[in-house]
Amino acid sequence: MQVVRTPGSARAIARTLPRPVGFVPTMGALHEGHLALVDRAKAENASTVASIFVNPLQFGVGEDFARYPRGFERDAELLSSHGVDLLYAPAPERMYPPGFASALDVGSLGARIEGERRPGHFAGVATVVVKLLHAIEPTSLYLGQKDAQQTAVIRAATRDLDMATNIVVAPTVREADGLALSSRNGYLGTEERAAAPSLYRAVRAVADAVLGGERDPRKARSAGLDLLEPPLRWDYLEIVDPLAFAPLDPLTRPAVVVAVAFAGSTRLLDNVTIPGADGIDPILTPLRLRPLAAAVLPARP
Ligand code: PAF
Repeated sequence: MQVVRTPGSARAIARTLPRPVGFVPTMGALHEGHLALVDRAKAENASTVASIFVNPLQFGVGEDFARYPRGFERDAELLSSHGVDLLYAPAPERMYPPGFASALDVGSLGARIEGERRPGHFAGVATVVVKLLHAIEPTSLYLGQKDAQQTAVIRAATRDLDMATNIVVAPTVREADGLALSSRNGYLGTEERAAAPSLYRAVRAVADAVLGGERDPRKARSAGLDLLEPPLRWDYLEIVDPLAFAPLDPLTRPAVVVAVAFAGSTRLLDNVTIPGADGIDPILTPLRLRPLAAAVLPARP
């Protein structure tokens, strides 16, 4: 595995790799969810590229940028042992040199739900992902379903900027008790870790209510609200449409149940998708394979 630190060297080497090229962007602190993306990229492409970059642009004031887990040697070994051909690990000053001033505006999609709680977060994500895509020029980009709104923002940004990369979204990888894998799970204390799977149970219960025919979002939400176990507390639990991430009322399908619970200051994020009546998953299915009506992304306001 070659390791490069600058956009220029990443582009020069990525251009020599046999195509198609699959690309897995990460912030390091790798877990089985990341490795499942790498394994899928590896299986579906002639070459696999990964990146490690803890992106300051997507962290707000008071968030965990400084303490975000970092362990480059371990991460690089894992990526190498999973067959990654090229690792791009830019230094922050090469990604954002003095004078850096441009960023993407991701519109109302980036301002809803998660974006309302983390202003600027999705603009930071979209900006870094587009920079990474320009450096690697991959055929396909691999993302995890756990960050469902992130996948929608990146799909919209790459569409708006006429970028040819396919966006592949893989299902959330979970612990045996249902907790979605996350680099932030390491922050959890013993009691918080024991209660953490109740978030998935709650989100699942809401999705099951909708799948069972409930069309009132208040009633569907109430199927999950009480299932969250202390010391976890709700930030939000919403049923949204999968393209604009706007709350649905009355409920229609397809939809996504999105939720965040606080465990102390740690935010645990999860979601469950609700396919349309045609069975098509609204996050996992590539846009080009969805029926035309669902594939048309919402217009910017
Ligand atoms: O999901 C993540 O780890 C990050 O948001 C990403 C896509 C690597 C951009 O920094």
